[in-house]
Amino acid sequence: MRDILPDEAARWRAVENVVHQVMQAFNYREIRTPVMEQTELFARSIGELTDIVSKEMYTFTDRSGDSVTLKPEGTASALRAYIQGNLGEQGSLTKLYYMGPMFRQERPQAGRLRQFHQFGAEALGAMAPELDVEMMLIPLTMYRNLGISQTSLLINSVGCQRCRPPYKELLRRELRKVRAHLSDDSQARIEQNPFRVLDSKDGGDRKATASMPLMKDHLCAECSAHFARVQELLKKLNVPFEIDGRLVRGLDYYTKTAFEITSKDLGSQDALAGGGRYDLLVEELGGKPTPGVGFAAGMERLMIVMEKRDTTVPGPSGPKIFLIGLDGPSRTWAFETACALRARGIPAETDYLERSVKAQLREANRQHAEFVLVIGEEELKTGTGKVKEMKTGRENTVSLKTFVQTFS
Ligand code: HAM
Repeated sequence: MRDILPDEAARWRAVENVVHQVMQAFNYREIRTPVMEQTELFARSIGELTDIVSKEMYTFTDRSGDSVTLKPEGTASALRAYIQGNLGEQGSLTKLYYMGPMFRQERPQAGRLRQFHQFGAEALGAMAPELDVEMMLIPLTMYRNLGISQTSLLINSVGCQRCRPPYKELLRRELRKVRAHLSDDSQARIEQNPFRVLDSKDGGDRKATASMPLMKDHLCAECSAHFARVQELLKKLNVPFEIDGRLVRGLDYYTKTAFEITSKDLGSQDALAGGGRYDLLVEELGGKPTPGVGFAAGMERLMIVMEKRDTTVPGPSGPKIFLIGLDGPSRTWAFETACALRARGIPAETDYLERSVKAQLREANRQHAEFVLVIGEEELKTGTGKVKEMKTGRENTVSLKTFVQTFS
């Protein structure tokens, strides 16, 4: 878990602004959910057998004996809020987005933190493949607006409750045949979660499963048509993509479309964003049967890529004006005036350390102040002073009495 110090926080805010803008352009509405939920919510949605639920959650018993968990992702919470807040009643399609901290106790490494931040969206109430594509386009649009274009879009279909069980049995049968060649982890997964064996990064596993049947080749007619339409739409929109038949993702709730956006600028943790369709999840969580699709993207990983690509986000911005007082009365005038400007929303700063003019000017420079105004006995007597623009050195004589109005 790390701190985001002021210089970095300014860059985060610039990126968050782009996130809000693009979400608005796609007509998603913001939702803010609590930082923790009842543990059962995640076990039921993400899946008991996933790494997230079985090894990575920050779970504890609170003082009333309830098991609560810091949220490891945003989808389960958003859906719980959708059900409890009856959002589905307000229209047949509900588009939600969120941003915030998530928690997973993973082994920390570059691009993998225990408290990280995601932004994501969920569209509830429609089966349309257009929405699956929209979920890919939202993060891609944000990345493009932030100057990042070198990403890869990987898509797959993980089928539905109709075509998945027979395929799972077929995969199990095939995996049992090569059991001896698989890693211990993968051997353990054959019976419980055979899909994850295909997703293994282990070289031996990859070799042993090279010619295994893939879900995308065993889809039912409905899933197959849906997957074809997603591809057709991506082509129409000129969005490059690759089909990755081994992409299964680390959460169990997906049906049909699953996708990831990766970047070569990241190390082994190369996923910038991931998502997919989950047509059974709302009902599983106690709501009416409601199809859904969504994505989430990592903020820290995006910042890493932006740094590597050297893309420009506004750096730290300083006060609009630094008011410098030379003696007691002029310091008081500077403080009063700074407060009056701030009340009008203008970022203003003054000195609190009784520093010399030279030191105050140095401070104004260090803080990237756009203007300075130096006030002393003389200025207070004549009621005029000189405002200096730091970048150009240009000076303007101003009346102190009307300064707040004119500078505003
Ligand atoms: P996820 O793939 O688990 O999906 O996470 C989405 C993104 O969050 C990842 O691609 C990555 O950028 C970031 N991320 C995940 N774990 C970490 C970590 N430990 N440190 C830093 N970044 C991380 C979900 O969370 C689903 N809820 C996505 C979704 C929404 N599917 C449907 N709707």
